[in-house]
Amino acid sequence: MSLTHTVPQTVLGLETSCDETAAAVVRRAADGTVEVLSSVVASQIAEHAPFGGVVPEIAARAHVESIDAIAGRALSDAGLGYADLTGVAATAGPGLVGGVMVGLSFGKAVALARGLPLVAVNHLEGHAVSARLAADIAYPFLLLLVSGGHCQLLVVDGVGACRRLGTTIDDAAGEAFDKIAKTLGLPYPGGPALERLAEGGDAERFPLPRMLLGRKDCDFSFSGLKTAAARLAETLTTDAERRDLAAAVQAAIARQLAERSDRAMADYARAQEGRNLRFVVAGGVAANATVRARLMQAATERGFSFTAPPLAYCTDNAAMIALAGAERLALGLSDALDAPARPRWPLDEAAARLSPTHAPGRKGAKA
Ligand code: KG4
Ligand code: ZN
Repeated sequence: MSLTHTVPQTVLGLETSCDETAAAVVRRAADGTVEVLSSVVASQIAEHAPFGGVVPEIAARAHVESIDAIAGRALSDAGLGYADLTGVAATAGPGLVGGVMVGLSFGKAVALARGLPLVAVNHLEGHAVSARLAADIAYPFLLLLVSGGHCQLLVVDGVGACRRLGTTIDDAAGEAFDKIAKTLGLPYPGGPALERLAEGGDAERFPLPRMLLGRKDCDFSFSGLKTAAARLAETLTTDAERRDLAAAVQAAIARQLAERSDRAMADYARAQEGRNLRFVVAGGVAANATVRARLMQAATERGFSFTAPPLAYCTDNAAMIALAGAERLALGLSDALDAPARPRWPLDEAAARLSPTHAPGRKGAKA
């Protein structure tokens, strides 16, 4: 074990990659124990809602206006000052680059002014470690990362050591929730609104396509489901029908996530020779109760333990960024002050290069 493992870390985390301005202080003890000292999340939902989605320019401006106060609140909630920190961790991508630059620049300024090491954190690595904020889960584990921009199955051996087993070939699961919610006339963000609408609905009333059935890889696809749901949505006339379609969509997304995860678990269990079988779900979609229940059932049937972060750590937050930073610092890893903001940044760069499931288009390959 390297010497750096024995040094406790108290890290300020900053997250500004989408529509939440967040700051948090996390302490990682020398023995690896994790304590969240504060976690402040300022949502911009009200500012974006009139436009039905996140407007990058509005997001960047809102981050600029609030980052200073949010970081100050994270420190005061933790009862600490800048002098008590051992490092600063800021999301450096992937995400809306205008926003990423705000948090990253703020982090660089703090690092420079206070002589602290900077960690430029991959937002996806933050989600990957998020379950460790509230539960003592050892590496390695199999991770399903499901958020608004990503849908991936990864083997997580530790920070800086993620191997991708599969990814979406079109939309992310959260994107599917959001787009289908829109066709049902629901407000942004669509995922939680669709979950509320689906309550008590009959998921069997509307048959929806099962995507990628029988495929032997661990990839995902939601575009067929999205099209089918949009067609059906146009024909609906009653609230009961809308509720039943919402329930069917939620069940179909949950089923696909469980089916693909089941395939990954089978492969992973073989590679692990049946040892240390841990399945973790993270990202905003992990907040969905039906998704959690389906995944828990799949994990249990395969003999895996199942962990999902508490709801506050499923959606974007800075505690996960601070923890990823603390774990990197504990390994002696930090970044130079010229670390770039990266709109696209796959977690497993080798897999993304070898198997680009997206042809690079106008917006570039989705990580
Ligand atoms: O992880 P996250 O906060 O941001 C990204 O990094 O993308 O995830 C946001 C996504 C959105 O698509 C949102 O609709 C979805 O997570 N989401 C949900 C729920 N809560 C958030 N989807 C379904 N059910 C929910 N309860
Ligand atoms: Zn996220």
